[in-house]
Parts: sequence; C-alpha cells; structure tokens
Amino acid sequence: MVKLFEKVVFRGVELNNRIVVSPMGMYSAENGYVTPFHLVHYGKFAMGGAGLVFVEQTSVTRKGRITNGDPGLWEDGQIEGMRQIVHVIKAHGSKAAIQINHGGRKSSQQRAFRGNGPLTDRDIEMGEERWTPTGPSDVSFSDGFQAPIPLSKEGLVGVRDAFVATARRAVLAGFDIVELHMAHGYLLQSFLSPLANFRTDEYGGSLENRMRFPLEVTKAVRAAIPSAMPLFVRISATDWIDGGWEIEDSVIFSRKLKELGVDLVDCSTGGNLRAGSTNANLTRGPGYQVPFAERVRREAGIATGAVGMIRTPDFAEKILQDERADLIFMARQMLFNPFWALHAAEYFGLTANFENWPEQYGWWLTKWGGALRANGESLHGADKYPEAAE
Ligand SMILES: Cc1cc2nc3c(=O)[nH]c(=O)nc-3n(C[C@H](O)[C@H](O)[C@H](O)COP(=O)(O)O)c2cc1C
Repeated sequence: MVKLFEKVVFRGVELNNRIVVSPMGMYSAENGYVTPFHLVHYGKFAMGGAGLVFVEQTSVTRKGRITNGDPGLWEDGQIEGMRQIVHVIKAHGSKAAIQINHGGRKSSQQRAFRGNGPLTDRDIEMGEERWTPTGPSDVSFSDGFQAPIPLSKEGLVGVRDAFVATARRAVLAGFDIVELHMAHGYLLQSFLSPLANFRTDEYGGSLENRMRFPLEVTKAVRAAIPSAMPLFVRISATDWIDGGWEIEDSVIFSRKLKELGVDLVDCSTGGNLRAGSTNANLTRGPGYQVPFAERVRREAGIATGAVGMIRTPDFAEKILQDERADLIFMARQMLFNPFWALHAAEYFGLTANFENWPEQYGWWLTKWGGALRANGESLHGADKYPEAAE
C-alpha cells in the first residue's frame, strides 16, 4: 500500500492523498484582493492532483500585510475572489486550505521578487505604500528594517479579533481547512521567540508568557469555526539561533495546541532574526526539517506536516512509512512541476490509464500513452533533455 496516496481524515474533511501544496506568497494581489492570476495559479495545483492546496499567507488586517502584494480577508469584499479560488480547487477533487497571518515586525517590506528587504525610496516611487509595523516589542527584525510599535493590550485584542473575523470569512469562502501562521518571524511567532519578544507584561518573559498570545488566538479561532473544520498551525520548530526558540519549546507548545483542538502542526523552521545574527550556516539538504516534524509528532502526540526540500516520490513515501509525519507539504517542487502528484501516482503504478487525471486530459493521454508504449518510448522520455551542446 502506498501511503502517500492513502486517504486521510481530519475532523469532517477527507483528503484524497497526503500531498499538500504548501502555502506560497505570490505578492500579486491588488490592494489585498486576489486576481485572475491566483485563480489560474491555484487551479493548476488542484488539476495536478494534490490532496490539499493551500492558498498563501493571507492577511488579517491591512497593516498586517508583509508586502503591498499580499491578499487579505480583512473585509467582506475580499471573500468573493477567494470563493472562486475555492470553487476551482474543489472542482478538481482537491480540498482547499488557507493560511492566515499577521506580518508583525516583518510587515511593510518589499515583495520577495523585488528584493525581499526593507522598502526603498525606489519602491515608493513605483507606488508601494510604506507603514509602520507593529510587534511584541520595539526591536526591528534586522538591520534596515523599521522598528515596530509594540502592541498594547487593546491592540492584542484587536489582532485576536481580526484573526477570528478572517477565519469566519474563510469559512464563508468555502475553505475546508484554516491554518494559523505561527512561523517565519511574523507576528505570532515573534511573540513566541525570545529573539523578538522583550515584553515585561504577562505576554513576555517566561515561555508560558510568550505562548500566551498565540494560544489566545488559537482558542478564539477554534471557537469561531465549525467543529467539523480542521485547524492547522504552522510553526518554526527552531529559530536556528542560540538563545532563540528551540525544538523543546515547540514540543511543549504543540501539546498546548493539541489541548486547544488543533489538528496538525506544520513544522517549518527559521525566518526570525536578532539584529546582527544570521542563520546562513544552516544547510538546507533533502528533508532537513523532517526531524522536527518527527519529534513533535512523537513527543506531543499530534499529527504533523513535514516540509522542506522534499522532492521525490520515494522520499515522500519513506517519511510517511517511517511515521515521521502525516502529510507532505511541498512548495518549490510544485512550482517546478504542478503535476507532481499525478506523476507520483503514475510512478507508483496507481494510475496506469490516467484515471486520476482531469477527465478532459485523461481520455487523450490514454491513447497517447498506448501509442508511446507501442513505439517502445517511455512516458517521461521527452522530459529528459540532452545536455546542451557546447
Ligand atoms: C514563493 C514562495 C512563497 C512562500 N510563501 C509562504 C507563505 O505564504 N507562508 C508560509 O508559511 N511559507 C511560505 N513559503 C515557504 C514554503 O511554504 C515552504 O515551507 C518552503 O519553501 C520549503 O519547502 P520547499 O523546499 O518544498 O520549497 C514560501 C515559499 C516560496 C518558495
């Protein structure tokens, strides 16, 4: 039995397989609204056979956007565009998830493909808007980034309520699953991490205090969405920096998330800095974050998602067979080959006649495949390009 293609159920949602298109910001929304680009972009992954397709980190407030190009669900008018994306994803048999986020001290920066750093005067000339971010404390993310305004207690209530309102809008848009973004140095993770949180009230200091706000948000969102709807949380399992958040903290935190009714912890790492620090020494080899998914799964007793440099069907399958994670999240490999899941099914001999493919394609491909086989050609033959001639 190939585990990658086993169905899996979270609360009232059944996924056709364990392959997840990981959340990926496209920085291409217009004033917080998704565009036809997003419809095509996400629809293509569903046509490609992934069990679950994530819509990118989506902002809970206008000023919580990381960049001017982030989509949002901070107002009702933004629901309709998302509903269309959900419709296209589901029409192809996948389930639709959305990651909701507040960028915190990493808000108001450049779109990744325009530099991924602080906004420059040239960006402003090109029409980008700059605003002062908020965070747990007044310490900036890194050199050149703006110092955030520390959130007051009322401010925290406002952010919590914005997560709740956004999750409700995600339900109205038809999403099957909501994920809270508590990774990569954005607002919720910056409360967790001692690299960003220097508060002296009950939201800073001890681990218990640093976990307080993210757990309050989790509790409020869990109460606001239907009980049949799964809630996932993405964490940075480690900051990869001495004195930062560690895997041991992640295990403790994940136990609390489980108690609050979270269904899966999606284990990423990094993205958070102390000024002058770097985690550039980190080597990103195949499956480099899988040990974190494995440890959280084993020690916190909660389902996990593994992500990061997982590319081949055999490796993805082995992670599941070895019970190191429950879902396989893939990002860049999916940009490279949105049909990865269908190709993996074919590789494992599960779709010899293109049964899992969109019916509009399958009928033709069956005949084509037969003709190729009759000629002694392999399906993938033409994908293996010869080296360019000198
Ligand atoms: C273009 C791009 C945008 C991304 N945006 C997000 C995001 O919105 N939220 C998030 O949690 N991670 C984001 N990530 C990280 C990916 O979800 C994933 O964790 C990371 O790329 C490692 O997986 P991979 O090796 O399969 O690409 C992004 C990655 C890429 C390549």
